[in-house]
Amino acid sequence: MDGFDARRLARREVVDLPVYSPGRSPEEAARDLGISDCLKMASNENPLGPSPLALRAAAEELKKANVYPDPESGELRDALAERLGLDRECLLVTHGADEALDLIAYAFLEPGDRVVVADPTFSSYELAALTMGAVIDKVPLKDYRQDLEAMLGAVGPRTKAVFLCSPLNPTGTALGMEEWERFLRRFPGDALLVLDEAYVDFMDDEERWESLAYFEGRPWLVVTRTFSKAHGLAGLRVGYAVCSPQVRELLEKVKLPFNVNRVGQAAALAALDDREHLERTREVNRRGKERLYRVLEECGFDYVPTQANFILVRNGSFPDLGERLLRRGIIVRAGEALGLPGHVRITVGDEGQNDRLERALREIVSDGD
Ligand SMILES: Cc1ncc(COP(=O)(O)O)c(C=O)c1O
Repeated sequence: MDGFDARRLARREVVDLPVYSPGRSPEEAARDLGISDCLKMASNENPLGPSPLALRAAAEELKKANVYPDPESGELRDALAERLGLDRECLLVTHGADEALDLIAYAFLEPGDRVVVADPTFSSYELAALTMGAVIDKVPLKDYRQDLEAMLGAVGPRTKAVFLCSPLNPTGTALGMEEWERFLRRFPGDALLVLDEAYVDFMDDEERWESLAYFEGRPWLVVTRTFSKAHGLAGLRVGYAVCSPQVRELLEKVKLPFNVNRVGQAAALAALDDREHLERTREVNRRGKERLYRVLEECGFDYVPTQANFILVRNGSFPDLGERLLRRGIIVRAGEALGLPGHVRITVGDEGQNDRLERALREIVSDGD
């Protein structure tokens, strides 16, 4: 209708919300730039694909697509509770970890509340909080790591939540156990502390510590995890939150009744049992990152050693490194979009994908174009 202005009807927070950009897709690259056979190394997906057990379970479950899914994701929730040694009342299965982050914002944030995040960090924390009218307190990274001391210093009387991410997207650095424990000891306890562990399965064994061991006496702690990364199910959208029963009860109130579809629930349940796929994923990532470190060093690029399945690379003498890779059919994530100009974030691939990336990088530095 003429004269209708949706923006005038909408909430101010929504009108002002920045639009999330997921980066260029291979289809767009083909359409806009005429580059066919594009390789996307930008979204930190699993290069091995989904677990074969998950695929089989998903195909079987599809036959029941006419029936609504279990609103509680009960079987998956029970399996997770058993696997993680938790009470099922502490688990909420969600439509990707992203939904858990949104639910935290819906349930807890009001206009004017404050939220502390690192700068940069995964953008969903900020977007979810801004949607609810919260004010974001951004604390710059120190040497590519979250500065926990400064983040504690940013917590004030109106702070409702602090979001930590480990390993951190976009730098790949992880929190150490000692700094985490020091942080917990001083955390005021009248706000939520959210620890996003989307990439925790990729961590080296010697760096890993168990965040779920810290819930006793800390009802304000929330840990989020996902099946999107190491389990290779990004397209099915399954994640979960671990939290106290009182927090869970509130998050559950604001979730959609059938938030996780039945194919996703079945696939995640099967993936949980596929230790072989998980171990192979970890091994391919470990070998891939060691190889890419070597290639980057030989090509003269600085990078941040990673505990995740992506590497943050400094563009160095090639400010348009992302564009140069794109011309060679490889999509990486531009640092500008991640709050780190002068960098690109590259997802570690499988052997064939890393071959192609290596060729492209060597070509760029030898041709200079
Ligand atoms: C740090 C971090 N947290 C959460 C997510 C969202 O995960 P999901 O696919 O489960 O929504 C991502 C996705 O890239 C991520 O990088």
